[in-house]
Amino acid sequence: MAEPEFDPRWRPTADLAHELAGQFGTPLYVIDENHFRNRIRDYISAARQADPNSEITFASKANSVLAVLKIAHSEGCLIDVASEGELRAALAVGVPASACHMHGNNKSREEIEFALSVGINQIVVDNFEEIKTLAELKATTPLVLRLAPGVLPITNEKISTGQQDTKFGFSIHDGSAEKALLQSLNSGLQVEGFHCHVGSQLLDPEAQISAGQRLAQFAAEMKSTHGFITKVINAGGGRAVRYTNESPIALSNYCQQLAQGVRRALEGTGLNPKLVQEPGRSLIAESGVTIYTIGSIKFVESPSGGTKRHVIVNGGLADNPRPAMYDAKYAVETVAGDARELGESSSATVSGRHCESDLLFDQVMLPNDLQPGDLLIVLTTGAYSSSMASNYNRYPRPATVLVRDSGPVIVQRAESYDEMLAREVLPEGI
Ligand SMILES: Cc1ncc(COP(=O)(O)O)c(C=O)c1O
Repeated sequence: MAEPEFDPRWRPTADLAHELAGQFGTPLYVIDENHFRNRIRDYISAARQADPNSEITFASKANSVLAVLKIAHSEGCLIDVASEGELRAALAVGVPASACHMHGNNKSREEIEFALSVGINQIVVDNFEEIKTLAELKATTPLVLRLAPGVLPITNEKISTGQQDTKFGFSIHDGSAEKALLQSLNSGLQVEGFHCHVGSQLLDPEAQISAGQRLAQFAAEMKSTHGFITKVINAGGGRAVRYTNESPIALSNYCQQLAQGVRRALEGTGLNPKLVQEPGRSLIAESGVTIYTIGSIKFVESPSGGTKRHVIVNGGLADNPRPAMYDAKYAVETVAGDARELGESSSATVSGRHCESDLLFDQVMLPNDLQPGDLLIVLTTGAYSSSMASNYNRYPRPATVLVRDSGPVIVQRAESYDEMLAREVLPEGI
């Protein structure tokens, strides 16, 4: 008999799902601590096996709940922050600024000043304005230049960032990258190397691997033409995870190919830069789920004939905008609210409670005997769900619970209605 295929995604047992929904309410983000820690350990070990001079930075935009940042740092990750807010979150949980890298394609002067004042480890420079600002501020912080390597990844265009005409970084192709390097060096700035991030959820890692190689070739050229010594090559994040039935390339294989490509391009140059990767999704997405409660089920006649079953849950666009933004697909599981056995499945449409079509999933297989009150569990929501959540329709953002060996604990409580209204100011006479 064939071995059942290993499923890399964490999900709660039915008993745990009941316990979580009962104790903390729904919608609820849930992260499994052991799963997340093991992910980080596996990534760091695969990267170091492929190249001992490797470093992993957790892209905190994927999930910046404080407990998550603390775990990532305690497991040996640096923290990549893309704004002052993300930096403040890392600092608030005791991650030193010396363990943070700052990104952002339009950092304000205030953000840069703040990052420098707390002693950020590294700034990833995106544009000529930033070079000017850093020079004016006489920054001595190590910098890397974000480059656009001109590769087109195969992924949704909204998360594709490495192509030639991207808004991110300096193009190698049109000479901006070389100009940015020279301008920075002439301004007395401490450039240590180069960065790229070509896109996210990359099932075919070809673009990432060739982008890493392209950065290394550029580093070799900058040494031979300007004597510049590259100390850091950061190949970004982007490794894919399993949402439905995807099978991303094995981590060790990916890290080997990336490291080999970079080292090959540097052969004979005498350069031995640190090889940095900054994954977000692939460290935490599969460690998390979102639990919803089904509120209503409607059977509606379809114009093309037949009946459509709409299963409507108590969340949606505001707690997970990815289906609307990227047409993202997920796997869903169900647990009966009253612990009864669920029967045969057929196709259904899952929608949220917001004031648009708010489709979460079209045509997923769900038990025919689902009822209001049953739980719907969406897998692989550890990344880019809570960090992208909004208050649309004035729904408070859900809590995040961390499942620990000692039991589940709240690590971010749900927003209250009062908190949502606290920022409002009513001028006199309105
Ligand atoms: C600069 C940068 N680095 C790293 C990441 C993390 O990407 P992922 O979560 O796909 O690994 C992103 C995601 O947008 C990014 O913009």
